[in-house]
Amino acid sequence: MARLTLSVIKADIGGYVGHSTIHPELLEEAKKRLTQAKKGKKLIDFHVTHCGDDLELIMTHRKGVENKDIHKLAWDTFLACTKVAKSLKLYGAGQDLLSDTFSGNVKGMGPGVAEMEFEERKSEPVIVFMGDKTSPGAWNLPLFKMFADPFNTAGIVIDPAMHDGFIFEVVDVYESKTIRFTCPEEMYHLLMFIGAMRKYMIKAIYRKRDGEIGAVASTQKLSLIAGKYVGKDDPVLIVRCQSGFPAVGEALEPFAFPHIVEGWMRGSHHGPLMPVPFHHATPSRFDGPPRVIAAGFQIADGKLIGPVDLFNDPSFDEARRKCNEIANYMRQHGPFEPHRLGLQDLEYTTMDQLMKKFKNRFKAE
Ligand code: 13P
Ligand code: 13P
Ligand code: MG
Ligand code: MG
Repeated sequence: MARLTLSVIKADIGGYVGHSTIHPELLEEAKKRLTQAKKGKKLIDFHVTHCGDDLELIMTHRKGVENKDIHKLAWDTFLACTKVAKSLKLYGAGQDLLSDTFSGNVKGMGPGVAEMEFEERKSEPVIVFMGDKTSPGAWNLPLFKMFADPFNTAGIVIDPAMHDGFIFEVVDVYESKTIRFTCPEEMYHLLMFIGAMRKYMIKAIYRKRDGEIGAVASTQKLSLIAGKYVGKDDPVLIVRCQSGFPAVGEALEPFAFPHIVEGWMRGSHHGPLMPVPFHHATPSRFDGPPRVIAAGFQIADGKLIGPVDLFNDPSFDEARRKCNEIANYMRQHGPFEPHRLGLQDLEYTTMDQLMKKFKNRFKAE
């Protein structure tokens, strides 16, 4: 059987209300488009969903990654949905579509993309993680725990197929360069880079023993594409599970610790990442706090069997409670760092204008 490609392509093409969630008509329009593509055999299967105000297209096909037809399908779907969003005057209609002309690949045009190609195993459980009000660096800590931390993933110790470790591909998003580190040998080097999650992002993870792909994340930074703040690069992540990869529970476990990520109000704050069931992916308090959902699928001959709403489990209640506690604490800092991002990292900055205005009022100390 030909290799299978799992493509997750997403964009914010209009928020309802403000940036909190998505209007049902956008989901309907996207489903309509992808149903046509499935009938026309372009796709084997698809699932359309949303995390907050981001429209998520989860698709299977046999055309490989970065395929022009699939990217064009996603782009045209976003354009069609933007039309609906504009007719409803939804907030920021077409927000993430930064270009007018499609040139073969949605990368660099605004949407976020995570795609992987593999031979379907006897059983193929995958999790698609989707975030809102955060940025791609948010996956660094959980990915490290899933694939490199034996206190998180028992399989690294117990499963001989995982025992050799994993290779982490890291991208420097400012320089558009990638570097690979092998774990466990180069773990401390890896951490030095990925701890700086604004610049260095884990892009993909491969099993060392056979080079098989285990995870792939979107690493698109909108502000670097657009040259200014245009909304946050709410990220997606695909993780293959079981049989030589982290078990489903090992892939979910890192999210029981609500780590601090950037995003939240105006993409300009630090706050805790809250793991939520699908129906709670509606960030409203101070446009947050940042959310993550996990959609679990079994893939069968390319068909997406699912999703299971994996954070819809009371065992994540404590993480959610803690998130609210951290959110209260962080909010009390108001416009002060470290709740507000550092100057260098601010996306909606008024500082440039202020500096011009007050230039002549600065005196030597
Ligand atoms: P089961 O025995 O329920 O299949 O679980 C095995 C496993 O790997 C759990 O992580
Ligand atoms: P989104 O990136 O989810 O559109 O959020 C932008 C924002 O400014 C929220 O306050
Ligand atoms: Mg938005
Ligand atoms: Mg969003």
